[in-house]
Amino acid sequence: MIPELSNPSVCMRDPERVHEILQSMAKSGSNTVQVISDFDMTLTRFAHNGKRCPTCHNILDNSKLISDDCKEQLKELLNTYYPIEIDSSRSIDEKLPLMVEWWTKAHELLVQQKIRKDLLAKVVQESDAMLREGYQLFFDHLHEHSIPLLIFSAGIGDVLEEVIRQAGVFHPNVKVFSNYMDFDECGVLRAFKGELIHIYNKREGALLNTGHFQELRARPNVLLMGDSLGDLTMADGVQQMENILKIGFLNDKVEERKQSYLDSYDIVLVKDETLEVPNAVLLYLTGNK
Ligand code: TMP
Ligand code: MG
Repeated sequence: MIPELSNPSVCMRDPERVHEILQSMAKSGSNTVQVISDFDMTLTRFAHNGKRCPTCHNILDNSKLISDDCKEQLKELLNTYYPIEIDSSRSIDEKLPLMVEWWTKAHELLVQQKIRKDLLAKVVQESDAMLREGYQLFFDHLHEHSIPLLIFSAGIGDVLEEVIRQAGVFHPNVKVFSNYMDFDECGVLRAFKGELIHIYNKREGALLNTGHFQELRARPNVLLMGDSLGDLTMADGVQQMENILKIGFLNDKVEERKQSYLDSYDIVLVKDETLEVPNAVLLYLTGNK
Protein backbone atom coordinates (compact mmCIF):
# COMPACT_ATOMS: atom_id res chain seq x y z
CA MET A 1 0.00 0.00 0.00
CA ILE A 2 2.79 2.42 1.01
CA PRO A 3 6.19 1.10 -0.07
CA GLU A 4 8.03 3.28 2.48
CA LEU A 5 6.46 1.20 5.27
CA SER A 6 8.96 -1.49 4.26
CA ASN A 7 11.93 0.81 4.92
CA PRO A 8 14.48 -0.74 7.32
CA SER A 9 13.82 1.96 9.95
CA VAL A 10 10.11 1.06 10.19
CA CYS A 11 8.84 -1.16 13.02
CA MET A 12 5.18 -1.95 13.63
CA ARG A 13 3.63 -4.18 16.26
CA ASP A 14 0.49 -4.66 14.19
CA PRO A 15 0.92 -3.80 10.47
CA GLU A 16 -2.62 -5.02 9.71
CA ARG A 17 -4.05 -2.47 12.12
CA VAL A 18 -1.93 0.27 10.54
CA HIS A 19 -3.37 -0.62 7.13
CA GLU A 20 -6.90 -0.57 8.52
CA ILE A 21 -6.43 2.88 10.07
CA LEU A 22 -4.86 4.23 6.88
CA GLN A 23 -7.63 2.84 4.71
CA SER A 24 -10.30 4.25 6.95
CA MET A 25 -8.65 7.69 7.00
CA ALA A 26 -8.13 7.71 3.23
CA LYS A 27 -11.76 6.78 2.70
CA SER A 28 -12.93 9.73 4.82
CA GLY A 29 -10.81 12.08 2.71
CA SER A 30 -7.98 14.49 3.47
CA ASN A 31 -10.49 17.23 4.37
CA THR A 32 -11.23 15.23 7.55
CA VAL A 33 -7.56 15.02 8.58
CA GLN A 34 -5.52 17.11 11.01
CA VAL A 35 -1.87 16.66 11.95
CA ILE A 36 -0.54 17.14 15.47
CA SER A 37 3.22 17.02 15.84
CA ASP A 38 5.83 17.53 18.51
CA PHE A 39 8.76 19.76 17.50
CA ASP A 40 12.13 18.97 19.10
CA MET A 41 13.57 15.69 17.84
CA THR A 42 10.37 15.01 15.86
CA LEU A 43 10.29 17.74 13.20
CA THR A 44 13.94 18.55 13.92
CA ARG A 45 16.82 16.15 13.54
CA PHE A 46 18.26 14.28 16.50
CA ALA A 47 21.75 14.06 14.98
CA HIS A 48 23.66 15.02 11.86
CA ASN A 49 27.06 13.56 10.86
CA GLY A 50 27.31 11.91 14.28
CA LYS A 51 26.74 15.18 16.15
CA ARG A 52 23.64 15.89 18.24
CA CYS A 53 21.35 18.62 16.91
CA PRO A 54 19.98 21.26 19.28
CA THR A 55 16.51 21.50 20.82
CA CYS A 56 14.85 24.96 21.07
CA HIS A 57 16.33 25.31 24.55
CA ASN A 58 19.78 24.23 23.34
CA ILE A 59 19.70 26.88 20.58
CA LEU A 60 19.65 29.52 23.31
CA ASP A 61 21.92 27.56 25.68
CA ASN A 62 24.66 27.43 23.03
CA SER A 63 24.28 31.05 21.93
CA LYS A 64 26.17 34.22 22.71
CA LEU A 65 23.11 35.50 24.58
CA ILE A 66 24.05 33.32 27.56
CA SER A 67 27.02 33.89 29.88
CA ASP A 68 29.64 31.14 30.28
CA ASP A 69 28.62 30.59 33.88
CA CYS A 70 24.97 30.16 32.92
CA LYS A 71 25.95 27.85 30.03
CA GLU A 72 27.72 25.64 32.56
CA GLN A 73 24.64 25.51 34.79
CA LEU A 74 22.31 24.73 31.87
CA LYS A 75 24.66 21.97 30.75
CA GLU A 76 24.64 20.51 34.24
CA LEU A 77 20.82 20.51 34.17
CA LEU A 78 20.85 18.75 30.81
CA ASN A 79 23.32 16.15 32.05
CA THR A 80 21.18 15.53 35.12
CA TYR A 81 17.70 15.49 33.67
CA TYR A 82 18.02 14.24 30.06
CA PRO A 83 19.08 10.74 31.25
CA ILE A 84 15.95 10.76 33.44
CA GLU A 85 13.76 11.82 30.48
CA ILE A 86 14.84 8.76 28.49
CA ASP A 87 15.17 6.29 31.39
CA SER A 88 12.84 3.38 30.61
CA SER A 89 13.16 1.95 34.13
CA ARG A 90 11.26 4.90 35.67
CA SER A 91 7.52 5.47 35.34
CA ILE A 92 6.05 8.70 33.97
CA ASP A 93 4.66 9.41 37.48
CA GLU A 94 8.15 9.19 38.87
CA LYS A 95 9.64 11.37 36.12
CA LEU A 96 6.96 14.06 36.06
CA PRO A 97 8.03 16.14 39.11
CA LEU A 98 11.66 15.91 37.97
CA MET A 99 10.77 17.21 34.51
CA VAL A 100 8.88 20.14 36.09
CA GLU A 101 12.04 20.79 38.11
CA TRP A 102 14.17 20.79 34.93
CA TRP A 103 11.93 23.19 33.00
CA THR A 104 11.48 25.50 36.00
CA LYS A 105 15.20 25.74 36.72
CA ALA A 106 16.11 26.18 33.03
CA HIS A 107 13.54 28.94 32.54
CA GLU A 108 14.71 30.74 35.69
CA LEU A 109 18.27 30.72 34.38
CA LEU A 110 17.19 31.99 30.94
CA VAL A 111 15.21 34.84 32.50
CA GLN A 112 18.29 35.91 34.52
CA GLN A 113 20.17 36.35 31.22
CA LYS A 114 18.02 39.30 30.12
CA ILE A 115 17.67 37.89 26.60
CA ARG A 116 16.74 40.44 23.93
CA LYS A 117 13.90 39.67 21.57
CA ASP A 118 15.59 41.43 18.64
CA LEU A 119 18.56 39.03 18.80
CA LEU A 120 16.58 35.79 18.59
CA ALA A 121 16.45 35.64 14.80
CA LYS A 122 20.25 35.97 14.54
CA VAL A 123 20.82 33.33 17.20
CA VAL A 124 18.59 30.87 15.34
CA GLN A 125 20.34 31.72 12.07
CA GLU A 126 23.75 31.00 13.60
CA SER A 127 22.61 27.77 15.31
CA ASP A 128 22.90 24.16 14.16
CA ALA A 129 19.11 23.71 14.23
CA MET A 130 17.99 21.39 11.45
CA LEU A 131 14.58 20.27 10.37
CA ARG A 132 14.43 16.64 9.27
CA GLU A 133 15.12 15.80 5.65
CA GLY A 134 11.89 16.07 3.67
CA TYR A 135 10.54 18.96 5.78
CA GLN A 136 9.83 21.11 2.74
CA LEU A 137 7.53 18.52 1.19
CA PHE A 138 5.90 17.87 4.57
CA PHE A 139 5.00 21.51 5.29
CA ASP A 140 4.22 22.44 1.67
CA HIS A 141 2.03 19.41 1.07
CA LEU A 142 -0.03 20.07 4.20
CA HIS A 143 -0.39 23.71 3.14
CA GLU A 144 -1.39 22.82 -0.43
CA HIS A 145 -4.08 20.49 0.85
CA SER A 146 -5.23 22.91 3.59
CA ILE A 147 -4.58 20.31 6.27
CA PRO A 148 -4.09 22.00 9.66
CA LEU A 149 -0.79 21.30 11.40
CA LEU A 150 -0.59 21.84 15.14
CA ILE A 151 2.97 21.94 16.44
CA PHE A 152 2.71 21.11 20.13
CA SER A 153 6.00 21.71 21.85
CA ALA A 154 7.48 21.81 25.31
CA GLY A 155 10.29 23.83 23.74
CA ILE A 156 10.23 27.61 23.30
CA GLY A 157 7.59 29.02 20.93
CA ASP A 158 9.55 32.13 19.93
CA VAL A 159 12.58 30.03 18.94
CA LEU A 160 10.54 27.34 17.21
CA GLU A 161 8.62 29.90 15.14
CA GLU A 162 11.91 31.47 14.06
CA VAL A 163 13.26 28.07 12.94
CA ILE A 164 10.27 27.38 10.71
CA ARG A 165 10.06 30.98 9.50
CA GLN A 166 13.71 30.94 8.42
CA ALA A 167 13.12 27.60 6.70
CA GLY A 168 10.30 29.28 4.74
CA VAL A 169 7.61 26.87 5.94
CA PHE A 170 5.63 28.85 8.53
CA HIS A 171 2.51 28.65 6.38
CA PRO A 172 -0.92 29.91 7.52
CA ASN A 173 -2.17 26.34 8.23
CA VAL A 174 0.43 25.99 11.03
CA LYS A 175 -0.53 26.68 14.63
CA VAL A 176 1.82 26.43 17.60
CA PHE A 177 1.16 25.55 21.25
CA SER A 178 4.35 26.08 23.24
CA ASN A 179 6.09 28.07 25.95
CA TYR A 180 6.26 31.68 24.84
CA MET A 181 8.58 34.33 26.19
CA ASP A 182 7.23 37.42 27.88
CA PHE A 183 9.30 40.52 27.06
CA ASP A 184 9.19 43.86 28.88
CA GLU A 185 8.64 47.18 27.09
CA CYS A 186 12.36 47.29 26.18
CA GLY A 187 12.16 43.86 24.54
CA VAL A 188 14.03 42.06 27.35
CA LEU A 189 12.90 38.64 28.57
CA ARG A 190 11.22 38.93 31.97
CA ALA A 191 9.26 35.66 32.28
CA PHE A 192 7.51 32.90 30.35
CA LYS A 193 3.82 33.32 29.56
CA GLY A 194 0.93 31.19 30.78
CA GLU A 195 0.99 27.60 31.97
CA LEU A 196 4.28 25.78 31.60
CA ILE A 197 4.24 23.01 28.99
CA HIS A 198 6.71 20.26 29.81
CA ILE A 199 7.21 16.86 28.34
CA TYR A 200 4.54 15.10 30.43
CA ASN A 201 1.65 17.55 30.64
CA LYS A 202 0.66 17.85 27.00
CA ARG A 203 -2.74 16.36 27.86
CA GLU A 204 -3.45 19.31 30.19
CA GLY A 205 -2.13 21.69 27.52
CA ALA A 206 -4.46 20.15 24.96
CA LEU A 207 -7.45 20.44 27.26
CA LEU A 208 -6.72 24.14 27.88
CA ASN A 209 -7.07 24.77 24.15
CA THR A 210 -10.54 23.43 23.52
CA GLY A 211 -11.28 26.36 21.15
CA HIS A 212 -8.71 25.12 18.64
CA PHE A 213 -10.04 21.58 18.61
CA GLN A 214 -13.62 22.88 18.45
CA GLU A 215 -12.70 24.77 15.25
CA LEU A 216 -11.33 21.53 13.81
CA ARG A 217 -14.28 19.36 14.80
CA ALA A 218 -14.92 18.47 11.13
CA ARG A 219 -11.51 16.76 11.13
CA PRO A 220 -11.82 13.68 13.36
CA ASN A 221 -8.90 11.84 11.72
CA VAL A 222 -5.56 12.55 13.33
CA LEU A 223 -1.97 11.92 12.31
CA LEU A 224 0.12 12.28 15.47
CA MET A 225 3.93 12.50 15.43
CA GLY A 226 6.22 12.48 18.45
CA ASP A 227 9.48 11.24 19.88
CA SER A 228 8.55 10.89 23.54
CA LEU A 229 5.89 8.81 25.25
CA GLY A 230 4.63 12.14 26.64
CA ASP A 231 3.71 13.17 23.09
CA LEU A 232 1.01 10.48 22.94
CA THR A 233 -1.45 12.71 24.85
CA MET A 234 -1.17 15.66 22.42
CA ALA A 235 -4.45 14.67 20.73
CA ASP A 236 -6.43 14.35 23.97
CA GLY A 237 -8.37 17.52 23.15
CA VAL A 238 -9.63 16.23 19.78
CA GLN A 239 -13.39 15.94 19.79
CA GLN A 240 -15.14 12.78 18.61
CA MET A 241 -11.99 11.30 17.19
CA GLU A 242 -12.57 8.68 14.52
CA ASN A 243 -9.07 7.45 13.72
CA ILE A 244 -5.63 8.23 15.00
CA LEU A 245 -2.37 7.07 13.45
CA LYS A 246 0.59 7.56 15.76
CA ILE A 247 4.11 7.79 14.33
CA GLY A 248 6.95 7.76 16.86
CA PHE A 249 10.62 8.58 16.28
CA LEU A 250 12.85 6.40 18.45
CA ASN A 251 16.12 8.31 18.41
CA ASP A 252 18.08 7.22 21.45
CA LYS A 253 18.41 4.22 23.82
CA VAL A 254 16.76 2.11 21.14
CA GLU A 255 17.02 -1.37 22.65
CA GLU A 256 15.74 -0.39 26.11
CA ARG A 257 12.82 1.61 24.76
CA LYS A 258 11.77 -0.26 21.63
CA GLN A 259 9.08 -2.40 23.23
CA SER A 260 7.36 0.48 24.99
CA TYR A 261 7.38 2.48 21.74
CA LEU A 262 5.96 -0.46 19.77
CA ASP A 263 3.24 -0.82 22.41
CA SER A 264 2.15 2.81 22.13
CA TYR A 265 3.01 4.09 18.65
CA ASP A 266 1.47 2.44 15.54
CA ILE A 267 4.59 3.10 13.46
CA VAL A 268 8.00 3.37 15.13
CA LEU A 269 10.85 4.91 13.13
CA VAL A 270 14.16 3.75 14.53
CA LYS A 271 17.06 6.17 14.10
CA ASP A 272 15.40 7.63 11.03
CA GLU A 273 16.44 11.26 10.48
CA THR A 274 13.97 11.83 7.66
CA LEU A 275 10.29 12.61 7.20
CA GLU A 276 10.10 10.08 4.38
CA VAL A 277 7.53 7.86 6.08
CA PRO A 278 5.21 10.65 7.34
CA ASN A 279 5.41 12.20 3.84
CA ALA A 280 4.49 8.89 2.20
CA VAL A 281 1.54 8.54 4.59
CA LEU A 282 0.38 12.07 3.76
CA LEU A 283 0.70 11.44 0.02
CA TYR A 284 -1.41 8.32 0.46
CA LEU A 285 -4.05 10.19 2.46
CA THR A 286 -4.29 12.92 -0.17
CA GLY A 287 -4.51 10.45 -3.03
CA ASN A 288 -0.88 11.03 -4.12
CA LYS A 289 -1.83 14.45 -5.42
P1 TMP B 1 9.41 18.98 22.61
O1 TMP B 1 8.17 18.70 23.36
O2 TMP B 1 9.21 19.99 21.52
O3 TMP B 1 10.11 17.77 22.11
O4 TMP B 1 10.47 19.74 23.62
C1 TMP B 1 11.01 19.17 24.75
C2 TMP B 1 12.47 18.83 24.63
O5 TMP B 1 13.29 19.90 25.12
C3 TMP B 1 12.78 17.63 25.50
O6 TMP B 1 13.31 16.59 24.72
C4 TMP B 1 13.81 18.14 26.49
C5 TMP B 1 14.38 19.36 25.85
N1 TMP B 1 14.93 20.36 26.80
C6 TMP B 1 16.24 20.80 26.59
O7 TMP B 1 16.92 20.37 25.67
N2 TMP B 1 16.77 21.74 27.46
C7 TMP B 1 16.04 22.26 28.51
O8 TMP B 1 16.55 23.10 29.26
C8 TMP B 1 14.70 21.79 28.70
C9 TMP B 1 13.90 22.30 29.83
C10 TMP B 1 14.19 20.84 27.80
MG1 MG C 1 10.37 15.99 21.27
